[in-house]
Amino acid sequence: MKDRYSIVGPFYDLMSVIYSFNQINKCKTAMLDRIKPDDNVLFAGVGHGIDAIAAAELGAKVTVVDLSATMLKRFNKGIGKKEFKHPIRQLHQNILEVDEFSTYDMVFAHFFLNVFLKKMMVQVLDHLTKLAKKEGFVVVGDFSLPKGNLIAKFFQILYWRMADLFFWAVANNALHPVYDYQKHMGEVGLKIKTVKYFRMLFDERYYSILGQKK
Ligand SMILES: C[S@@+](CC[C@H](N)C(=O)[O-])C[C@H]1O[C@@H](n2cnc3c(N)ncnc32)[C@H](O)[C@@H]1O
Repeated sequence: MKDRYSIVGPFYDLMSVIYSFNQINKCKTAMLDRIKPDDNVLFAGVGHGIDAIAAAELGAKVTVVDLSATMLKRFNKGIGKKEFKHPIRQLHQNILEVDEFSTYDMVFAHFFLNVFLKKMMVQVLDHLTKLAKKEGFVVVGDFSLPKGNLIAKFFQILYWRMADLFFWAVANNALHPVYDYQKHMGEVGLKIKTVKYFRMLFDERYYSILGQKK
């Protein structure tokens, strides 16, 4: 299968740091304080995986999944010579093929669900929820739903659309409005426990949502 991130993959994290003034990285590490040593955690569409590496440093049993060989190569570069209590397990495959249901204490989807068209996004979110244990957690970190007055909303939508259009052009990601992840998490049976927001310039641009499986 064609690696959709072969061009942009090597620069992905650098671009996200510049584009968000590092707020994306803060968003991706926001819920790591929930991880306990030896927890089973999964990172879907891990990319360069600073979040997954930090989770392994906390002593978690980390599994990462990504379709892109380029992204996994960068991920391994990030690991370098680091050693962890539990070696990180890496799956080079489609997340929908991972069938370890009710296995994970925490499942992370950081800037992952936004690559899909809505119907598929909800299907993937539902699948991630099935991978979590009963009362386990699913964390979605992504662009937050535009809010505020018309001008504020206009700039938030423009900001998302620039990124969306760029990744549509270079990685064939889906074109769509910002999703209401909190609503969709409720639809797949997750109870929202905490939401942390990350500001850029004048308003909140990103959020990390912690949902618990009932
Ligand atoms: C927008 S990037 C986000 C990467 C990382 N989570 C981050 O926050 O920086 C989306 C990632 O999901 C991966 N991906 C896309 N579709 C996938 C699928 N069906 N299964 C597994 N990984 C997928 C891509 O290869 C890419 O690494």
